[in-house]
Amino acid sequence: MTISTTTGLARYYAGHRPVLTVAEPELLKNIMIRDFNSFTDRNFELLIDPVLNRNVAQASGDDWKRLRQIISPAFSSGRMKRMYPSIRECLRDFTAHLDAYARDGRPMNAKEMFGNFTMDVVATCAFATKTNIHNDPNNPVTTTVKPEGLQYFNDLMSNIITTRKEMPDSSAKYSDFLQLLMDARNDRVAAHESAITDESGTGSLKPSAPTPAVPHKQMSDDEVRANTFVILMSAYETTATTLTIAMYELALQPRLQERLYAELKAAMDADGEIDYDTLQALTYLDQVVSETLRLHPPGIRATRLATQDYKLGDTGIVIRKGQQVDIPTYAIHHSPENYPDPYRYDPDRFSPANRGKIKPYTYA
Ligand code: HEM
Repeated sequence: MTISTTTGLARYYAGHRPVLTVAEPELLKNIMIRDFNSFTDRNFELLIDPVLNRNVAQASGDDWKRLRQIISPAFSSGRMKRMYPSIRECLRDFTAHLDAYARDGRPMNAKEMFGNFTMDVVATCAFATKTNIHNDPNNPVTTTVKPEGLQYFNDLMSNIITTRKEMPDSSAKYSDFLQLLMDARNDRVAAHESAITDESGTGSLKPSAPTPAVPHKQMSDDEVRANTFVILMSAYETTATTLTIAMYELALQPRLQERLYAELKAAMDADGEIDYDTLQALTYLDQVVSETLRLHPPGIRATRLATQDYKLGDTGIVIRKGQQVDIPTYAIHHSPENYPDPYRYDPDRFSPANRGKIKPYTYA
């Protein structure tokens, strides 16, 4: 399949089903933002189990809107800020572990270590469970992202949910993701969130769709488990891979590594800590992460299903209800029309001076 350089479109068949690939920025704007209501559904099949399938990433229609409305506040900057001390604690464990490797001059398996760090952060933020994973790599929490760990995950969640239900003040005690969902189930989410959510309350969860306007509804116990699970799954591989690849790219260009090191060093306080607000203002760190995700996007394409017949701009194409549209993230990020010399790792593409030159809707 080749994407036409003039139209930014391509067509292929998935079995007998026609799929339209759209890489043209203006058309993408329409599909992802302007006419988003015609494309709320996705073709995202994770073959897990029937209960855990009931998560926001696999839901469609009003079900997706309801789940998304409940989940979005988990990613507000207010909540992130509250979780930051726990994340720092995970980071301290991780760097202590790395120090030991550095002292002994031992080689390290970067992907495994960043995977462990990510798992530690996610388990802490999602369901307040400390893994001690660096010293205990066989901790059963590590299996929760593997097929053989599903039973363990289900049992663990059931135990935690039961314990918290019996606790009179679990809402006040926990600010993790699981508690947010449990409060939603108890229909207490609005009151609980208003105390801690930032002004937008929508956070950075992708895709950046309009906040769904559906009445608040409750979540079932199964949905609480399914959506805690999807957070674990969505966060783990994406983050661990991105951290690993960023380290690799910086190792290839020590000059860039030095520049990042200098920025981080200058931002540290007397105890060697970087507070949440200072972290947000680190421009070069942001550039490095943005360029890593451009060159190596963990999701190489996204899919949408038309929820009604849809006329695609002035292309003369009508996308039929139920038809799949692909958004080829990897191809868009590697097109020389969007990014000159696209295979070169260059964080300065995202510098404050250059960022404005990036074509809208060419970066996911
Ligand atoms: C480098 C890190 C990450 C990348 C590149 C990434 C990328 C994405 C993308 C592109 C989507 C949209 C998929 C689509 O609509 O087809 C998505 C959805 C999602 N991500 Fe991430 N993600 C990352 C980390 C995380 C983390 C840390 C979490 C949770 C803590 C998370 C939770 C989710 C969830 C729940 C969805 C589904 C949202 C919905 O269906 O409305 N992701 N992510």
